[in-house]
Amino acid sequence: MLVRTLRAEKFRNLQRVSLSFSARVNVLLGPNGQGKTNLLEALYLIAGFRSFRGAKTRELIAQDGEAARLVAEVEADGVERAVELTLRPKGKAYLVDGKAPGSLADWVGRLVMVTFSPDDLFLVKGEPDIRRRWLDRVIFLLDPEHLRFVMQYTKALKTRNALLKDGMFGRDMLLLDAFDATLAKCGAKVRAARARWIAELSLLVDRELSALTGGVHHAKLADDSEVGAADEAAYLATLVQRREDDVKRRLTSWGVHHDDLEVTISERVARRFASQGEQRALTLAMKLAETELVRERRKVAPVLLLDDVTGELDAVRNQFLFRELERHEGQVFVACTELPARLAEAGFSGTIFDVDAGEIRERK
Ligand SMILES: Nc1ncnc2c1ncn2[C@@H]1O[C@H](COP(=O)(O)OP(=O)(O)OP(=O)(O)O)[C@@H](O)[C@H]1O
Ligand SMILES: [Mg+2]
Repeated sequence: MLVRTLRAEKFRNLQRVSLSFSARVNVLLGPNGQGKTNLLEALYLIAGFRSFRGAKTRELIAQDGEAARLVAEVEADGVERAVELTLRPKGKAYLVDGKAPGSLADWVGRLVMVTFSPDDLFLVKGEPDIRRRWLDRVIFLLDPEHLRFVMQYTKALKTRNALLKDGMFGRDMLLLDAFDATLAKCGAKVRAARARWIAELSLLVDRELSALTGGVHHAKLADDSEVGAADEAAYLATLVQRREDDVKRRLTSWGVHHDDLEVTISERVARRFASQGEQRALTLAMKLAETELVRERRKVAPVLLLDDVTGELDAVRNQFLFRELERHEGQVFVACTELPARLAEAGFSGTIFDVDAGEIRERK
């Protein structure tokens, strides 16, 4: 897994940059507000994911531009590929080796990337959809089919909700049949995949948290889903049973779109009871577990994107990020405001890029 080159035009504050990267460590160095995270975000989009900052496409385009373009040469799953992404206010378009993938699911998961960002904290503190998306994203990297089911489910749910909202069904609830069939088929698949991988992730998160806190804390991820272990038939039966209610409430009131992950630290629900330091350790453990799971299952070293590793305040986080960095065999991108001493020490093999007001220069 490797990003060899990247060209960005009119992407946030990056007006025009053209870069070749090291296969090992790439340090993005510069004061606040210069474009370091923007570059990490661009790399992440190349892999087919949404912005890890939750940005809308329109926000990614330079304020003075109409479209942004990212062009990259990557090595993904042993194959050299040319990836091109055009961002317009109305949406994104990918080209992989000059051709539009049939579905985004044909591209997502080929180039494996894992991010570490200060925003990860929302994994513990934030709304259920943040945890759901994290979990799904981890699963995409391990099982590309999962993305297809999530996409089909989301599309059917959106249309069903739009029709319910407009009161289109009236008494003829049979019109819901086609949507319910899709929701049941995909919903049951999504549910089964989530349940399976939550169990695996839970063990790994516990191991990482225990290491991070010197054995003081234990973590558990548990399934929090109203759907339970429903197979396709049971799923459909519940949807049909709730139809009348859905028509009244004008939305789809039940399903895997309400799934959550219950994260506990030493038997307490982290979202409500964990201290700030505990939340930080827990989120880091979740991300380290993600990296570990990908390594074990895919037998590849993911590309790591580490944002903001200077923060003096967060010594534990940094210590573990550096441990990760030192043992990692693949490519790494690190954004920081000062060159960390540990990085400058012996054994550093990589490239430093100075980031200054949207201009990025390789230090020779
Ligand atoms: N669509 C856009 N058009 C133009 N500029 C943008 C756009 N989106 C963000 N910016 C600007 O890009 C600048 C750099 O942002 P970025 O988040 O990459 O900074 P950074 O180098 O990571 O800083 P920090 O060290 O504070 O995290 C910000 O000043 C921001 O206002
Ligand atoms: Mg930043």
